Amino acid sequence: MISKIKKQIVFSGIQPSGNLHLGNYLGAIKQWIDMQQNYSCIFCIVDYHAITIHQDPKELKRRILEIAKIYLASGIDPKKSIIFQQSDIKEHTELAWILNCTARVADLDKMTQFKDKSGKNKESVSVGLYDYPVLMAADILIYGAQIIPVGEDQLQHVELARTIAKRFNSQFGNIFRIPEAQLQKQGARIMGLDDPIKKMSKSAVNTNNYIALNEKPEIARNKIMRAVTDSGGEIKYNSQSKPAISNLLTIYSLITNISIKELEKQYAGRGYGDFKRELAQVVETFLIGFQAKYNKISDKEVFDILKAGATKLEPIAQKIITNVKKNIGLS
Ligand code: TYM
Repeated sequence: MISKIKKQIVFSGIQPSGNLHLGNYLGAIKQWIDMQQNYSCIFCIVDYHAITIHQDPKELKRRILEIAKIYLASGIDPKKSIIFQQSDIKEHTELAWILNCTARVADLDKMTQFKDKSGKNKESVSVGLYDYPVLMAADILIYGAQIIPVGEDQLQHVELARTIAKRFNSQFGNIFRIPEAQLQKQGARIMGLDDPIKKMSKSAVNTNNYIALNEKPEIARNKIMRAVTDSGGEIKYNSQSKPAISNLLTIYSLITNISIKELEKQYAGRGYGDFKRELAQVVETFLIGFQAKYNKISDKEVFDILKAGATKLEPIAQKIITNVKKNIGLS
């Protein structure tokens, strides 16, 4: 009987650091919304990940609430999915420590995001920044999550979670499920509006790189109008030879659910000016709708949802930690 088949577990999260932007929404959150129908979904605000770089305490507190409201305004339904704050479940860090003893320095040395984020300051960045993929592995493995919907930049970290889980299982018995990353077919890597060769990023110095979800709609409009374009005026998708227009087409397509092929037909014989003006309108309308939902959500509602989420998850996390400790000889 189909109703008796247990749903697969989905887990994903976002750091409350910096402004959430269209890349986060289109690359990650958008695919979470539909998954709620067919999976048991857990969506986390990964505050312990955020503190791997310095955060102003007041600002961090505000951003945790902001991320929860963004989840809700995007359509994550707390009746269907669990939303929670990572630091509310202490077993994440407990498991991360144990997994630190399975992960190898050679594994972490391969992580390209650490190389990018630490840049020339490798000696002065926090140990937490280096170790953060192990905490991410703990987030995933502690709930036996099978599907991890993320953007392309997190693929390597999910791969590491798989490696750690397999190594642990082979040494200590079959405790962990082996997770798999899931990327959007389109939009797994939304690029910067100022430079279509680099990804859209909340830590970008140039604020024209991204459109924040809390951006004033008229500012977002200007950012689209100012977005760099490629040479040649044709509205055609080709990520190699036309990275800028391909990125704008992807954004257009994901917001409106009109296929790129259809958009190409719609804009055949028309120029960048027309295309950008209409995309600016699409983005503006999207932001107005999104922000109206966001503004209706109260802080109290969020606190209650996060608390309920943690209450549901705690026994699951405790159970796996108990088994892990038993298997490695701690209890
Ligand atoms: P974070 O907070 O950097 O990003 C959140 C999600 O947004 C995706 N993303 C993008 N997708 C498409 N185009 C872009 N330009 C773009 N920029 C960001 C990211 O891939 C991610 O899916 N370590 C993670 C958070 C995390 C996590 C986890 C995720 C912690 N534990 C367990 C999954 C499972 C992070 O820092 O994401």
